[in-house]
Amino acid sequence: MSQRFSPPSIASSEITPESVYLKRRDFMRAAGLAALPLLGGAAASTSADVVTGGEALVYDQPAGQGDAFRTREPPTPFADITAYGNFYEFGTDKGDPARYAHEMKVDPWSLQVDGLVRKPGTLHLEDILSGFDLQERIYRLRCVEAWSMVVPWVGFPLADLLQRFEPTSEARYVAFETLYRRKEMPGTRSFTTTIDWPYREGLRIDEAMHPLTLMAVGLYGKTLPNQNGAPIRLVVPWKYGFKSIKSVVRIRLTDRRPRTTWETLAPKEYGFYANVNPDVDHPRWSQASERRLPSSLFRPNRIPTQMFNGYAEQVAGLYQGMDLARNY
Ligand code: MTE
Repeated sequence: MSQRFSPPSIASSEITPESVYLKRRDFMRAAGLAALPLLGGAAASTSADVVTGGEALVYDQPAGQGDAFRTREPPTPFADITAYGNFYEFGTDKGDPARYAHEMKVDPWSLQVDGLVRKPGTLHLEDILSGFDLQERIYRLRCVEAWSMVVPWVGFPLADLLQRFEPTSEARYVAFETLYRRKEMPGTRSFTTTIDWPYREGLRIDEAMHPLTLMAVGLYGKTLPNQNGAPIRLVVPWKYGFKSIKSVVRIRLTDRRPRTTWETLAPKEYGFYANVNPDVDHPRWSQASERRLPSSLFRPNRIPTQMFNGYAEQVAGLYQGMDLARNY
């Protein structure tokens, strides 16, 4: 374990994200690093409405993987990213997450990492927000329901996190779980919910270790709004959005393919792989095109869907020889 990762001497409850941010800035200064952009220069220029949100984060803007780390497509405005989404813990309406997610307490927060690792352990909020080198990644996000957006995330590669816990050679899959707190999550108390909570997702280990796979802690330069999965969520940009599990509290490495929420609910409609694929339709609708937010009845903003959501050059190799119509 690296020095930075050792348990903090101050109780997590005493540290606010703001102080974490300041400490980190001091560290960057001490290390002689150039001042890094606050409130994502490039991204912010497209959206003057970036006034709400959490605490400012300090991050890098890396080049790499062609344009894949930072698409040149214009980011979806903050207002749309935060108003419209899926977070079934708070209800099934697209506005429910924005309406109710403030009821979720995200400080303190613990993320447990266990299973087939040499050093199982727990990350606390301060480790999550300041224990990793943060980067901005501007990714397309394509929901299986055929709407999409472009999100300037701030986060770090999932691989950076997993490596700290030293996965064993038997680890073949990574399983994720969301917080499940009925009192704070009206959607989980609903009589009509058919989900076996907590929300669960999973990846193959090579997918988890891929440089595009991100643990996001912010968007538009600030800590994540609750409705977008505060304080930490997965982002897998070449897969349908339901793989990008929010508000993660547990990561477990396993040798068996984990059971995941949507696959369990409707296996004929939602597969384990869930790679974005315009040629494999959902049984009830076409996946050939998508509605890019913001969109309206009069300006539907329909665009063609790209293979692997436009990340084929980076990830197609992971699925060589696989029948993608069967392994949907
Ligand atoms: N994570 C949890 N815990 N619960 C959910 O209902 N919905 C998924 C995914 N992660 C979901 C979740 C779906 S279907 C999508 S499209 C994305 O979150 C939406 O992310 P966004 O609201 O940040 O756009």
